[in-house]
Amino acid sequence: MDNQLSIGARANPLSHFEQWYETVQNSDPQPDAASLGTASIDGIPSVRLVLVKTWSEIGFEFFTNQKSRKGQELLVNRNAALTWHWKGFGAQVRIRGTVSIIESSAVRAYWNTRSYGSRISALASAQSTPIPHREALVEKANQLKRVYGEDSDMPVPDNWGGFRVHPSNYEFWLHDPDRLHHRIEYANVDGKWVSMILQP
Ligand SMILES: Cc1cc2nc3c(=O)[nH]c(=O)nc-3n(C[C@H](O)[C@H](O)[C@H](O)COP(=O)(O)O)c2cc1C
Repeated sequence: MDNQLSIGARANPLSHFEQWYETVQNSDPQPDAASLGTASIDGIPSVRLVLVKTWSEIGFEFFTNQKSRKGQELLVNRNAALTWHWKGFGAQVRIRGTVSIIESSAVRAYWNTRSYGSRISALASAQSTPIPHREALVEKANQLKRVYGEDSDMPVPDNWGGFRVHPSNYEFWLHDPDRLHHRIEYANVDGKWVSMILQP
């Protein structure tokens, strides 16, 4: 177990996140993968992985199809949670908060950084809806490749976009060999971050 991460409270949980991320990104195989929890309007939960590549003081961002299950749930129930697990470091970070929709200019900017294949796939896929067989999807992607060449200015699909999770709480967790693990939670109280140690 690598012990390069330290648990002591910082003034601001975002700097805590950034310090950990800076360390783990050099050796974790997929540091940007986080489990995203959403819930339906009736409170039925659903969790899946997304890539969180960008963040700031305002929040943590991911991109997806807004007609997908997660997209539809977030449009009616803005509560969301993200959890990162960096196995080689025995570390977990959790955030909870509410989401907002990322502005179309930022969505377009991110869209343009995606590979040709990823853009074609996002255009082809009505994410989370059934299709009779996989060949139909492959054929749809091939058709789109005939319409949009590698160098063409491919439009952002209508339903594709991004959400930003605005954290109200962060939790940092570090493994202890005797399972007396370390946990520190930060809660936003009237605009100020308050930290507390939680029992494992
Ligand atoms: C490592 C990893 C990263 C993923 N990143 C994304 C992502 O950034 N956006 C996305 O829409 N789906 C991503 N997926 C797929 C989702 O986990 C999920 O299958 C898909 O978004 C449909 O989820 P939903 O039906 O709950 O909306 C990723 C899957 C894995 C395994």
